[in-house]
Amino acid sequence: MWSRVLRHAERPLFFAGVKKAARAASTATSSLSSTGDALNGTGFKSADPFASYSRWAPTYDDDSFEILKFDSPYACRDHMLAYWPVPAAEERVKVLDVGCGTGAIGRLVAEAIGPSAVDFHGIDLTPEMLRVAKQTGYYETLREWSASRTPWPVDDDSKDMASCNGVLVYVPPDLAVLAEFVRVVKPWGHAVLMLRDDNIDDWRPHIETLELQRRWKLVRVSKTRNNFPGASDKPPIFYKMYVFQILGTRLAAAA
Ligand SMILES: C[S@@+](CC[C@H](N)C(=O)[O-])C[C@H]1O[C@@H](n2cnc3c(N)ncnc32)[C@H](O)[C@@H]1O
Repeated sequence: MWSRVLRHAERPLFFAGVKKAARAASTATSSLSSTGDALNGTGFKSADPFASYSRWAPTYDDDSFEILKFDSPYACRDHMLAYWPVPAAEERVKVLDVGCGTGAIGRLVAEAIGPSAVDFHGIDLTPEMLRVAKQTGYYETLREWSASRTPWPVDDDSKDMASCNGVLVYVPPDLAVLAEFVRVVKPWGHAVLMLRDDNIDDWRPHIETLELQRRWKLVRVSKTRNNFPGASDKPPIFYKMYVFQILGTRLAAAA
């Protein structure tokens, strides 16, 4: 399955037009905040994400979106909308945003489909980032929680979709972490994960284990994209969006 989906990785998305408007010409990085500049210098591979994001929270949105032209939130939104479920009557689509940060994914999805159509729930390591996310008003619940600490404080089969953008590079690769997406998302729902090209090999064995166990299925991989086209003075950071359809433990048990 992995290789079959990779062959289709270049297919355009329905919402591709939306993201174009969000990406502008590159800008010099000289006016980044000092924390943003320091992280940019490390290729955003912080040894201590808690300390880095605690410091970066107040200037994260300006640095990321205005200066670095942060690409992956738009790609994440587009991939989520491409697999957006039709909710039951009177229901809102329930999304868990893992490593929600300042709430960019919730904001972008709500701006695209209307805030009344979706219930966003966020977990994140860093209270300062969550404080900014709370101010957006787009999240029903926000909780300080490390993705590495399993099980997450989220009920089984309680979400229609999960998103995780710009986070897994900070999380030690672990099957138990990925298995949480399978546990909390309803069967046939989707998990939309951003993985950097310089980190994918660390996660691949766990991704494949869940595929072999028929707990999820990789259904789409984006083309390779540069996450920070505005950081023109630094080597590009390449990533892809990966969309997994949840098959669920019950299906695996029956198979
Ligand atoms: C690059 S930001 C991405 C935020 C948001 N997803 C977005 O697209 O703007 C990385 C986020 O991951 C969070 N993070 C880092 N390690 C984490 C962990 N182990 N568990 C949960 N969140 C984590 C940081 O606090 C930060 O908010």
